[in-house]
Amino acid sequence: MKVNMKKNLCRVSGAPLAKVLDFGMQPLGNGFLGDKDINTEYFYSMKIGFSEVSMMLQLIEQPIPEKMFHDHYAFYSSTSKVMEQHFKSFAEEVLDSNYLSKSDPFVVELGCNDGIMLKNFSKKNIRHLGIEPSANVAEEANKIGVRTRSDFFSKKLADKIVSEEGKADAFLAANVMCHIPEILDVVKGIKALLKPSGVVIFEDPYLGDIINKTSYDQIYDEHVFLFSALSIQYLFGLEEMELIDVSPQKTHGGSMRYTLAHRGSYAVKDSVTQLLIKERAQGLDKIATFEEFRANVERSRSELITLIKDLKAKGKRVSGYAATSKSTTVLNYCGIGPDLIDYICDTTPIKQGKLSPGVHIPVVPHEVFKNDPTDYALLLAWNHADEIMEKEKDYVGGGGKWIVHVPTVKVL
Ligand code: TYD
Repeated sequence: MKVNMKKNLCRVSGAPLAKVLDFGMQPLGNGFLGDKDINTEYFYSMKIGFSEVSMMLQLIEQPIPEKMFHDHYAFYSSTSKVMEQHFKSFAEEVLDSNYLSKSDPFVVELGCNDGIMLKNFSKKNIRHLGIEPSANVAEEANKIGVRTRSDFFSKKLADKIVSEEGKADAFLAANVMCHIPEILDVVKGIKALLKPSGVVIFEDPYLGDIINKTSYDQIYDEHVFLFSALSIQYLFGLEEMELIDVSPQKTHGGSMRYTLAHRGSYAVKDSVTQLLIKERAQGLDKIATFEEFRANVERSRSELITLIKDLKAKGKRVSGYAATSKSTTVLNYCGIGPDLIDYICDTTPIKQGKLSPGVHIPVVPHEVFKNDPTDYALLLAWNHADEIMEKEKDYVGGGGKWIVHVPTVKVL
């Protein structure tokens, strides 16, 4: 597999990257595999670097996107009721805002997945277009009436859309922008696609939360960047765009929603000024902050390994709950395999019957957890803790215990 060869240079500023953390060889976060694929499993060297110029934390090397977002991509957004509700209210906020034209507004979403957000626009007959590189999930979106093209977004595609359908009022994205190594071209495309009054509104896991919670599992092949308001302001500033609003979100264990517009076209909200001040105070512009983060990550790893090994030594059974992409980083970095964890249960049919990437723990249907619960369950989808705890009351009632590793390693 080819990797980006412009290693060690910031993808945004071109300045040299300082290496801040090395996770060793890692498989693809969503690379669930069958027995026959074990010998050809792909690993890459996962390291993150930081540039004080762009203030952008990023992977130093990553597999090419075509290998990750393909026609059998295993991530479907509509697996969580909380996420359904989240995207409904995201859409409602956009619909109720003054950003959309009164007549025939046009909304584009990048990485619309199975249509979880855009269906809220299609139901209201708002002109929309989803862009989704993974053909299998794009097909699901089209099936439910969300007009989607299976493609990678670029300046070239933006020009094509403008010539075929005109400019857009809003460009939306959720948990997608941070996936794109060619982010400069995407920002150029957004600039070209938006009307003078157009806005881009997107959200991604938030670096400030990742640092505060030591949630290093947000680092995996798909998350090329971990954004802050500082780095987003720098990135879009290159195309004469600016932040006009920011709004923290609970999703993915702490995300940030950024709203940007062509420079000078809207008043900048106080939320932006406040967040930029807060980020400088937190040190999100300084390499030293990430060196401290590295020490916290190393401590988290040794505490988690010790806890699980101690439980096994006492004859306890441990499972993993939810075969998330982020769990791939934790399990591989900590070296937690089938000797320590019996199985990982997950509700996604195409992950079931497969092995988890790298460490090869069997992924089983949720029913296995119901019928054969382990003494302890490592909550690999800690970001969905409220939803999961609510529906797994019987597990705890029956004596089962949860292990969480964010923000600190503990048994609940
Ligand atoms: P998510 O945090 O979105 O994962 P990722 O790290 O990949 O972004 O969680 C989605 C995964 O968790 C998906 O494989 C389904 C699984 N899941 C369950 O199995 N049960 C649940 O109750 C929830 C909320 C998720």
